[in-house]
Amino acid sequence: MTDKMLGIDVGGSSIKAGAVDVGTGKLLGELIFAPTPQPATPAAMMPVIASLAARLPETAGRVGLAFPSVVKQGRARTAANVDHAWIGTDGAELVRRTLDRPAVFLNDADAAGLAELRFGAGRGVRGTAIMLTFGTGIGTALFTDGYLFPNAELGHMELNGMDAEKWASAHVKTVEDLDWRTWIERVNVYLERLHAMLWPDLFILGGAISERFADFEPLLHAAAEIRPAQFAGQAGVIGAALAAAQSEP
Ligand code: BGC
Repeated sequence: MTDKMLGIDVGGSSIKAGAVDVGTGKLLGELIFAPTPQPATPAAMMPVIASLAARLPETAGRVGLAFPSVVKQGRARTAANVDHAWIGTDGAELVRRTLDRPAVFLNDADAAGLAELRFGAGRGVRGTAIMLTFGTGIGTALFTDGYLFPNAELGHMELNGMDAEKWASAHVKTVEDLDWRTWIERVNVYLERLHAMLWPDLFILGGAISERFADFEPLLHAAAEIRPAQFAGQAGVIGAALAAAQSEP
C-alpha cells in the first residue's frame, strides 16, 4: 500500500487539498485551498480540484474526496450547502475521470472524524464519541469504540423550530455577528440536546473554530467531556486520504 495519498475536502466556501502520510496522519507539505465555485455544481468544481491536485507533491493510489452530503452507495444524496445538481452524482467517478485515478467519496464530517479518532483528539477513545465540525453547516459523525456509524446528519436536528446548523454554525456566528458568549450559549444548547439523545462519552469540536478553543472553553459546558479537534480545518483532508488508504485493494 502507498503511504502518500491525496485528500480533498469540499466545503461550502472553500475546497482544500493536501498530500497526507496515511501512516502518521501528517500532511506532507502545505494544505492548499481555492474558493468553492458558485454555483457549486459538479462541472464547476472538477477543474478547481484538478488545479489543486496539480499543485501538490506527487501521490499515488486512490484519492479521497470528503463532501458535505450524505453519501450512499457512492452517490451524494443531499446537497445542503452545495448545488442540487450534486444529488445522485457519483463523486468518485467524477474524480476518477478528472484526475485519472480511482477515488473514494464520503461525507466530510465522517472524514474529519476518521482523522481525529485515528490520530487526533479521539485516539484510543472507547465508548461513544461525536465529532462536530462547525463551518458553513454543522457536520456530525458518530463513533462507538472507534467504529463509524456513517452519514449522521445531526446538524439538521431541529432546534428552535429550525435546523440546528441554521442557528449555531460558525457561519451563523459570522453572519449574525454573534460574540463568543452568545454563540457558545447556542452551542451549549445544541450539545445538551445531542447528549439527551445519544449520551456520548466525548464531543470533539472541529472546524476552524477549534483553534480558538482556549478562548471559549470557559463558556462551554456539556454532560460529556469536550475536546478540541487536533487537526482543526485539516481534518477533512486527512480523513479523506485515510478513507482512500483503507479502501485500497
Ligand atoms: C450537511 C452534512 C455536512 C455538514 C458539514 C450539512 O449541511 O448536510 O452532510 O456534513 O453540513 O459540511
